Formats: sequence, C-alpha cells, structure tokens
Amino acid sequence: MKYAKLGNSDLTVSRICMGCMGFGDPARGQHSWTVDEEHTREIIKRGLELGVNFYDTAIAYQSGTSERYVGRALRDFAKRDEVVVATKFLPRTQEEIGQGVTGQRHIGNMIDTSLKNLGMDHVDLYIYHMWDWQTPLYDIMDGLNRIVKAGKARYIGISNCFAWQIAKANALAEKEGFAKFVSVQGHYNLIFREEEREMVPYCEEENIALTPYSALASGRLSRLPGANDTKRAEEDAYAKFKYDATAQQDGAIIARVAELAEKRDVTMTEVSLAWLLTKVTSPVVGATKPRHIEGAAKAADLELTAEEISYLEAPYVPHPLAGVMAQNKPAAAKEKHVWSTGDQPIGGK
Ligand SMILES: NC(=O)c1ccc[n+]([C@@H]2O[C@H](COP(=O)([O-])OP(=O)(O)OC[C@H]3O[C@@H](n4cnc5c(N)ncnc54)[C@H](OP(=O)(O)O)[C@@H]3O)[C@@H](O)[C@H]2O)c1
Repeated sequence: MKYAKLGNSDLTVSRICMGCMGFGDPARGQHSWTVDEEHTREIIKRGLELGVNFYDTAIAYQSGTSERYVGRALRDFAKRDEVVVATKFLPRTQEEIGQGVTGQRHIGNMIDTSLKNLGMDHVDLYIYHMWDWQTPLYDIMDGLNRIVKAGKARYIGISNCFAWQIAKANALAEKEGFAKFVSVQGHYNLIFREEEREMVPYCEEENIALTPYSALASGRLSRLPGANDTKRAEEDAYAKFKYDATAQQDGAIIARVAELAEKRDVTMTEVSLAWLLTKVTSPVVGATKPRHIEGAAKAADLELTAEEISYLEAPYVPHPLAGVMAQNKPAAAKEKHVWSTGDQPIGGK
C-alpha cells in the first residue's frame, strides 16, 4: 500500500480508502444489498492486513448500523491511532427546523450520535455530507469549529458540493478563525468527470485532498455490462439512477478499460482506480467481499502511461449532474433526498 498526506492536515492516509456504505443492517436503511456484521468484519480485517488505514462511513448508512459495525471491527482489529476514521452528518430535518434546533446544536447532536455508534471519542475527519440549503453557512462552520475545538473531530471535510460552495465556506472559516475543510468527497470516476472543470483545479490550488466516492461507478468500471451480475448490481436503485441514463455512451469507456486490462494483464478494477489515482489523493472504494479490497489495493501499484491515460479519457463527453449533486440547489432542499428512505439515524447502544 502507498500513503499520502490528506491535504493540509497532519493525517497520513492509504491511497485507497475503504468505503463502508455497503456495510450495515439491510433491513435498516436505503440499501437492500448491504452485508451483515460478520462479513463486514472479514472485509475490514482484510483491508487492515493490506495496509488500508482510511475508512469512510456515515450516520446515514443503514441508519447508523454501518458506523456501529465499522466501529466495533476497527476497535477489535486496529489501534485507534493507526486508522483514519471518517464519518458524515446530514442536513437539518424539517422537524428540527420547526423545533428551532440551530445548525450548531444539530451538528453537536449528530457527532455525539456518530461517536456513540462508533464507540470512539473522536473521528479523524468529519464530513459535511451534502449542502444544507436551509441552514446558514455561518452556523454550519461555527458548529463544525466547536466540535473540532472540543476534540470530537480532528479535521473537517465536505462532500457533494460545487467548487464555489467550498470556496465560500473556507473563506468564511478563514475570516472567522474557524477550522477549514481539508478534503472533498465528490462523485468522480472514469465515466463521471464533472469535477474536472472547477473542483480539481481549485483543490490543487488550495492543497485540498480529493477523496472521490463511487470510484468504480458502483461496480460498472470493474466488469463488462452484464458480466457476473451481483446482488448489488440488481438491487442498487441509487446507482442505477446515477448511471443508467448514460449507459450507452459510457459503454465505450468501459470497453477501453477492459481492453487495457487485458493488454496489461490486470483487472478492470486496477485500471479504473490506477487512472483515478493519477488525479486524486485517495479514492473511496466500496467492497462487499474481501476480494474486492484485495483487487482495489493492487491498483496502488499500477502505473499507467500518458498514452494509456489519454486513451481511457478520449471518449468522455460531459454528463448531466446525477445523484445527490442533482439536488444541490435551493429548490430541492425540501424534497426527499435520492438516498433517503425516511429511516432516521439511530443512536448507539
Ligand atoms: N458522499 C456521498 O454522497 C457518497 C455516495 C456514495 C458512496 N459514497 C462512499 O463511497 C464508497 C464507494 O461508493 P460505491 O460503493 O457507490 O462505489 P464503488 O466503489 O464505485 O463500487 C463498489 C462496488 O464495485 C465492485 N467492486 C469493488 N471492488 C471490486 C473488485 N476488486 N473486483 C470486482 N468488483 C469490485 C463491487 O460491486 P458488487 O458488490 O456489485 O460486486 C462493489 O460493491 C461508499 O462505500 C461510501 O463510503 C459516498
């Protein structure tokens, strides 16, 4: 495994981050395809053996059960200061807004619930999961600064935002002397490259780490369409929503990934992640089996040539925004989120 500094922070992270959205109780949330605690433990154990020290979960994943499984596994198999644990908080609900719960209090409540779920006294990276159009930015940044000051989060990151949003947030933080975002978790992979116009150059300029999610387009960059269709491939409506509309044009890129994989005698997963690793600090890769993290870990050692990179990139055409980013606008703030089942996160036992 290779390692890198996470932007302007002191955190050293593996170049592959384990995405933990696929862990948790399948009866308790958005996804029916998540793996139970026993399988979660096996996958995390394998990740640790391979040198993966960076784990990404969220309070939203299966109503907090992902956090619980991940917390228990990391506490059992790793030393706390040898892993980098990231989790995320949600926007305020309509009920909270109605009850007058401020952004600051909301963030305080969310981190306390996540720490309880994880069984930890702090997280290394606390991520603003999606832009909260109904809460003043000052309250969000003040709330985050308070939990950093309280030692509950070492650093803060942001996910699903436009470059102007993080630029505005970090400018406010700078002015007020608050903690600034050190990383961005955006949707970025070979078949969805909308981050390249504004976000990638902005982060390069500011030394902010890119830790993109759905690095394999939820499996679409790991196999040819129709090959070995998995439980997840069949049931993941959220991923279908993100990728089905552009499947035909994306097919040309996926075919090139397969062609290059055969030529280099590696897997499609390795080619897809090796490409992303030329652009970002640490892609967040989901795993539902130990062999998935084994395959992903190998990508850190694959070097693509400049010609191979151009070959993979050439067929791309701009895509409309999909998933959470398609709802990143004031008018959508009160709509049901694409990822949401209405099942509220639960506090830990
Ligand atoms: N911030 C956000 O809003 C947000 C949104 C989405 C995801 N995320 C984060 O990003 C992580 C990853 O996202 P994701 O799961 O959508 O996408 P992903 O990493 O693009 O895809 C993961 C899927 O790819 C397949 N796969 C992985 N490694 C493989 C290998 N070595 N060989 C063959 N197939 C392999 C598996 O599919 P099968 O299970 O079908 O075999 C796996 O479930 C999540 O766990 C979560 O932590 C964040």
